[in-house]
Amino acid sequence: MLVAAPQVRLPARDAVDRALAELERRLGSSKVDTSESGRNSHATDESEAIGRMPDAVVLAESTADVAATLTIAEKHGVPVTPRAGGTGRTGGAVPVAGGIVLATHTMGKILEIDRQNLLAVVQPGLVTADLHAAVEAEGLFYPPDPNSLKTCMIGGNVAENAGGPRAFKYGVTREYVLGLEACLMGGRVLRTGKRTIKGVTGYDVTALLVGSEGTLGVFTEVTLKLVPKPTEVATVLALFDDVRAAADAVRRIVAAGLVPRCLELMDGPTLVAVRNQGVAVDPRAQAMLLVEVDGNAGTQLDDALERLGNALTEGGSTIDVVAAQDASQRSRLWEARRQLSPATRKLAKYKLSEDIVVPRSRLVDLFVEVDRIGEETGVRHLTYGHAGDGNLHVNFLWNDESERPAVDRAIDGLMRATIRLGGTLSGEHGIGVLKAAYLPLEQSPELIALQQDLKRVFDPSGLLNPGKIFPTGHGSC
Ligand code: LAC
Ligand code: ZN
Repeated sequence: MLVAAPQVRLPARDAVDRALAELERRLGSSKVDTSESGRNSHATDESEAIGRMPDAVVLAESTADVAATLTIAEKHGVPVTPRAGGTGRTGGAVPVAGGIVLATHTMGKILEIDRQNLLAVVQPGLVTADLHAAVEAEGLFYPPDPNSLKTCMIGGNVAENAGGPRAFKYGVTREYVLGLEACLMGGRVLRTGKRTIKGVTGYDVTALLVGSEGTLGVFTEVTLKLVPKPTEVATVLALFDDVRAAADAVRRIVAAGLVPRCLELMDGPTLVAVRNQGVAVDPRAQAMLLVEVDGNAGTQLDDALERLGNALTEGGSTIDVVAAQDASQRSRLWEARRQLSPATRKLAKYKLSEDIVVPRSRLVDLFVEVDRIGEETGVRHLTYGHAGDGNLHVNFLWNDESERPAVDRAIDGLMRATIRLGGTLSGEHGIGVLKAAYLPLEQSPELIALQQDLKRVFDPSGLLNPGKIFPTGHGSC
């Protein structure tokens, strides 16, 4: 089920024409792009999901633009796919029913950085790295750091509840979203959450919206919690002769109660992609752990580093443990890590990246399963990711269309193994289109039905981001 086309209702041509005419009248034609190049560049994301060419792209510049689009689209029965950076990995921003792509990259302002209360209020089209730079200039820190941080945007990060390497210590996007302004299908505008750290008034609608993959509402303003910027950071590299030994070292670090901010693993085939990016890695290494420890001013990192070194070497199969020599070596390493997704894409004609999570105590078992699946299906694979969170990107690589049935079997095998090990199908990329078929492996029919009921409350006409998350598509709910 690589690019399973969900069953969705398609809008009638005359309904689309009427909606677009009304949108042009309301927003002005410069905000309604029906050019082929505009529609083309909003038809895909950074996954393999294949959608249906949208009829138009609305370039929203305000909450009013977003609300008007959702009002007009519902009135005419036209589906809407919200989009910010379009860097998603499971097709969340890919329009599968045509209709309108509602682009918010045109709303990229930082509205406020509140140093007294450690928060920022931003628009959904703000690039995540730009938020990092702005708050760090004030001595503050926004920890979530998806590896696409130079191109992904806060709206998409919130919609997918994005993670990243620093999640091991600091948690994922959800932990930092205090409040939202969201527009619902039909044009209602909701303000959820708070500007305070504590707050238990009513249901936690903010938490429900975070990670809802654009199916419940379109974000127009996001209030984010900040923390003080850590001043001390140290990076350690550990090389192993076997990936299972590296996975076991991760288990030991977690069990020892150590909390580095990042605990990233790369297997042997992934190190080929790292070397291809010009980073020299000992040729004997079959796995690498990239570990980063941080602390605030005055913190001694030495003790943490010593305990970390002990945990890394205890298993006896470490080839080398080295501290990054200087800032430039550190940044070269991280640049290579952050570019792994595009870099591994170059290793074969086709690549599909999974995003599974297992309990940290089962990481070694996961690698045993991945090797078994590779042997049984004959599909080439490589694995890297946020091992400290048990969240690994298992990538399947192939060169010929004829291998696709085997790749399907490999994915199916991986999903089933993940559930058997007590894990979950997605740690940070969401279900989108690509994993919808597997949802029933993890969740009961009752739980899926309850979520579809919730979807109907927010979007009775089923027009907001149809075809995502649920195996049958929202159109048939
Ligand atoms: C990464 C993306 C694929 O960790 O999540 O590189
Ligand atoms: Zn990742």
